[in-house]
Amino acid sequence: MKFINSTTIALALFLTMANSPYSKANPDEGMYPLSELNKAGLKKAGLRISEKDIYNPGQVGLVDALVQVSGCTGSFVSNRGLIITNHHCAFSAVQLASTAINNYLKNGFVAQNQEQEIEAKGLKIRITDSYEDVSNKILNAVANISDPVERINTIKRKQEELVKQAEKQDPTIKAEVSEMFIGKSYVLFRYKTIEDVRLVYIPRQNIGEFGGETDNWVWPRHTGDYSFLRAYVSKDGKSAPYSKENVPYQPKKHLKVNPNGVRENDFTFILGYPGKTFRHRPAQYIQYQQDYLLPYVSNLYDFQNKQMEEAGKDNTDIALSLATRIKRNANVLKNYRGKLKGLRGIDLLATKKQEDEALAAFILSKPELKDKYGSLLADIESYYQVSNQDALKELWINNIYNSTSLLKVARDINALKIALGKEKSPQAAKALFDRDIQKIKTGIKEAYESYNKQADQRILTKMLQDAAAFQGKNQLPAIQTLQLNSATAAGFATEIINNTKLADQNYVLNTVLANADALQKFDDRLLNFQAALNNDIVTFAAEQKRREGVLNKLMGDYVAVKEIFQAKNFIPDANSTLRLTYGHIKGYSPADATYMKPFTTIEGIIQKGNLGLAEFDYPQEIKTAYLNKNFGPYLQKDLGSVPVNILYDMDTTGGNSGSPIMNENGELIGVNFDRAYDATINDFAWNESYSRSIGVDIRYVLWVADKIDNAHFILKEMGI
Ligand code: ARG
Ligand code: ASP
Repeated sequence: MKFINSTTIALALFLTMANSPYSKANPDEGMYPLSELNKAGLKKAGLRISEKDIYNPGQVGLVDALVQVSGCTGSFVSNRGLIITNHHCAFSAVQLASTAINNYLKNGFVAQNQEQEIEAKGLKIRITDSYEDVSNKILNAVANISDPVERINTIKRKQEELVKQAEKQDPTIKAEVSEMFIGKSYVLFRYKTIEDVRLVYIPRQNIGEFGGETDNWVWPRHTGDYSFLRAYVSKDGKSAPYSKENVPYQPKKHLKVNPNGVRENDFTFILGYPGKTFRHRPAQYIQYQQDYLLPYVSNLYDFQNKQMEEAGKDNTDIALSLATRIKRNANVLKNYRGKLKGLRGIDLLATKKQEDEALAAFILSKPELKDKYGSLLADIESYYQVSNQDALKELWINNIYNSTSLLKVARDINALKIALGKEKSPQAAKALFDRDIQKIKTGIKEAYESYNKQADQRILTKMLQDAAAFQGKNQLPAIQTLQLNSATAAGFATEIINNTKLADQNYVLNTVLANADALQKFDDRLLNFQAALNNDIVTFAAEQKRREGVLNKLMGDYVAVKEIFQAKNFIPDANSTLRLTYGHIKGYSPADATYMKPFTTIEGIIQKGNLGLAEFDYPQEIKTAYLNKNFGPYLQKDLGSVPVNILYDMDTTGGNSGSPIMNENGELIGVNFDRAYDATINDFAWNESYSRSIGVDIRYVLWVADKIDNAHFILKEMGI
């Protein structure tokens, strides 16, 4: 995985771009909303079924097999609610079901029958039911509003109003209005939710996470990043909380699995829920990412992980309790470092600046545009000049509660305590307490799940040291009054966490939160510190709201005029709504003199295993099957082995994990789970030369289920 560190990659990327062996007919990015499928050129690219087989409003299509599962994507693969998604998407639920003795995370889990399936705590499933464009309804409401705060408030109010209306019309759905282009277009989505989700088959950790953080965001890859879940509903087919009485959900559609897989250059497409991309933003946004957000967050997460790893190094229970947080941090941190490297490598900032200059010249050349957008680019520049002045403070505020679990507990308790104080009578306070207490307790319990005293103390120390060193507009009065310096911050953090009653979960849940009266009398230094901090945060939140309003208008105008300038229809940035992307199974050249093939094989698992590193440990059964050439029908002859992972030029991002990869006939041939290191910048700019995503080949899933895990029922249920 050394190639990743080569400084020559980016240059090589562009040099190889021109003579890349197989170019897409129309090399372009594209996370197409379903309404735009007719513009996507799917047939020309190789699709053999009709676009209507994928999506046809009012009828059943492949999209009906798609689900969103806790920030990831998944798909139904049987008519009894069986879902395939990634191992890392079910990770937190597997962790919650695991103990040091029954360690499903480490050993995997195979339910041989439905009774054995385990509740997947915290996992919920969402299905897109329908959607409609509501841009006019929203934009008409703000047509005459120039005050930024009023504008953003009105947009939000209007969104809520439309949501309420839709949910009233059909009480079985949850509605959401998604902003497709900031300040420009809005779509109302109707979703169905399934609350009872169960773990069915989870491969063991040294398959599901093979390669660990070393291989994360890296090609060549050999990870069995898949898992199987099942959706349950009440007997009358309605969404219901976990209950033994519930029955498997019957989806309108499930995907057909094709055990023959794919070959190099085959056409493929992906349906899924990509989270967020930022391609329609000006140069200043890239500058902000490069100078502030990416370095700040990656360094902070790096620091946090070191503290958490240290805390759990000799204690499996502590290590387990911190595992999800560490893994999430590690994932983001490596992605951000990939982005930083990529941004510098291709100098995206310079490209964006040129684009914006050309846009400015275009605006000035057209009188009608000059009237409307004459000051747009200057306004964007001054917006960022002002907001960058306290960018550090904002980043600090956005990260403080995720840094320190006990501060998060303090925040939730204070919020209720303050609300009680505002009630007019003890009866009213009691009523409010009774209404909110369960929800608050649930949130607090979650914070305690990943609480570790030593880690909390060290991370809080760092946060205080950072804030104490802030200058000018970045200063936070609540920290200034403490007059901390780098040395005294540690003393303060240690002492305040040593002495707070909030560290005692039982005491908090049973005594402090016993009733409204007990809570109102509770006094604690950490609680008071959080209250002071909260004042600063609330003050700043008002300014953030104003900025959000300004930016909303600026970005709406920016995209509108850019669309005129480039005379093409933009595909909106990802926003967690259902999208389609297509491309081909395809290798690439990430560095001088390299060519990466698009398939890895079991051979590679053995090779990596020979390095002797813990993250490349793999089950002995794999070695035995490999030596005996026990590949069954999953062998790909020209590879002489079972394909493990595949590489392709489809346009994906975070949230696309678990997305089904389909062939020209709409059959499942793999599951998407990652991108190559260089492709982490496709969130800012997609390019055929470096944008490559990674999936697990369905043949590897079937081979492991069949030969390694004896999960034959899975194959049977999927009709293999
Ligand atoms: N990089 C992939 C994605 O962004 C996989 C993450 C999970 N794996 C890990 N080793 N952290 O989510
Ligand atoms: N691994 C990511 C996810 O969890 C996918 C990606 O960022 O490419 O969605």
